[in-house]
Amino acid sequence: SESRSLSIIVLGATGDLAKKKTFPALFNLYHQGFLNPDEVHIFGYARTKLSDQELRDKIRRYLVDEKNASEKAETLSKFLQLIKYVSGPYDSEDGFKRLDKAISEHEISKKSSQGSSRRLFYLALPPSVYPPVCKMIKECCTNKSDVGGWTRIVVEKPFGKDLESAEQLSSQIGGLFDETQIYRIDHYLGKELVQNMLVLRFANRFFLPLWNRDNIANVQIVFREDFGTEGRGGYFDEYGIIRDIIQNHLLQVLCLVAMEKPISLKPEHIRDEKVKVLQSVIPIKDKEVVLGQYEGYRDDPTVPNDSNTPTFATTILRIDNERWEGVPFILKAGKAMGSKKADIRIQFKDVPGDIFKCQKQGRNEFVIRLQPSEAMYMKLTVKQPGLEMQTVQSELDLSYKQRYQDVSIPEAYERLILDTIKGDQQHFVRRDELKAAWEIFTPLLHRIEKGEVKSIPYKPGSRGPTEADQLLEKAGYLQTHGYMWIPPTL
Ligand code: BG6
Repeated sequence: SESRSLSIIVLGATGDLAKKKTFPALFNLYHQGFLNPDEVHIFGYARTKLSDQELRDKIRRYLVDEKNASEKAETLSKFLQLIKYVSGPYDSEDGFKRLDKAISEHEISKKSSQGSSRRLFYLALPPSVYPPVCKMIKECCTNKSDVGGWTRIVVEKPFGKDLESAEQLSSQIGGLFDETQIYRIDHYLGKELVQNMLVLRFANRFFLPLWNRDNIANVQIVFREDFGTEGRGGYFDEYGIIRDIIQNHLLQVLCLVAMEKPISLKPEHIRDEKVKVLQSVIPIKDKEVVLGQYEGYRDDPTVPNDSNTPTFATTILRIDNERWEGVPFILKAGKAMGSKKADIRIQFKDVPGDIFKCQKQGRNEFVIRLQPSEAMYMKLTVKQPGLEMQTVQSELDLSYKQRYQDVSIPEAYERLILDTIKGDQQHFVRRDELKAAWEIFTPLLHRIEKGEVKSIPYKPGSRGPTEADQLLEKAGYLQTHGYMWIPPTL
């Protein structure tokens, strides 16, 4: 068979994202046999001068932990041997020519003259350097023209700060590479239960007739973290929770919950439907927004003392189409909250003419727990078992740990990197999607920057400002009292 070479180039190789996410994902793929040792080579590129060995030593401890170190020792040392390091600036040809030379040497050693050259550039870098780096890659490092070869670019948010800056970045990168070569990562699209959404919605008769404004009262997509912005206050203060979580991660999830059935499973068909959802969202009203900032956030020396940057936000989006008109989509995200979890909560309307109304605890809900303890459960009312005729809120529960005991759920980054190698763009954000996402939030973001919408202080470890719960109530969400879903233990 034809010999091929695959070069994975991690730019910003000494940075946080590379160490914590990119290299570990590559190692796990390698460990599971998804990267063919006869084809692959990995290159790190950054400004710091280091030897190959120094880079390997820097990243080693992020790849294995104490528990699995001995079991993985052999693959670890083989994997590290695949890594080469090149140092140079991000905006001059000199470094990138040396990088190209290193890649070409690897390609010659791996392939016959007929083989293909595949080059994956992973930009683990701040977006300010995306344009010069893309230019250098284009000029010095694209694959040498041969059959079956390619050059692909992987980028991560933040893709700009608002509509204008994002569009500017898009056209700079778009002027150098085709949309089919650009992979914009939103790692929420790599999570197991996010990837499950389309299957759930379109492969099950149960949901088809219920998934609309006639039956659904409201939808919540919630992200909470139980820690603050420690250590990244400087970055965070410029962006805030809406750009950090809501405009990307939660909005992507909203698209999958709300979209129409795509014509087929082709990535372009799916992304076409997601764009339509985003374009149907009507402008956000200030009275449907509650912002919060946790007390102590400004103690961070890199955060200005008068910062209005939200670390918490609840915003209601309204999708003005036939399926969803009138149904509030509540997006909520917060740092320094009382718990750490992410879920989608679909609350159904009351039963018409309900003869059990006076004894009921709450409405039907369908909840998809994205993390931790992946699960789906349907909250429903049943007869309380026993002699008396009482009702009680219970659930049909599909908890992954229990149901799929032998399966280990892959990390989002592993899946997504594998997709970039395969050339599957389904789980990546297309340029028009990104634009539509910024169109939704840019006016609000500008009002926040001008101080026209203020962040309300909240206690770290709390549920956020009480105003947010009041907003939920006003939007028609009915909290179930005296019921709690408890993830089953094995
Ligand atoms: C990142 C945000 O995109 O997502 C972080 O920048 C956040 O602020 C992280 O902590 C959350 O990701 P996960 O996978 O831990 O839910």
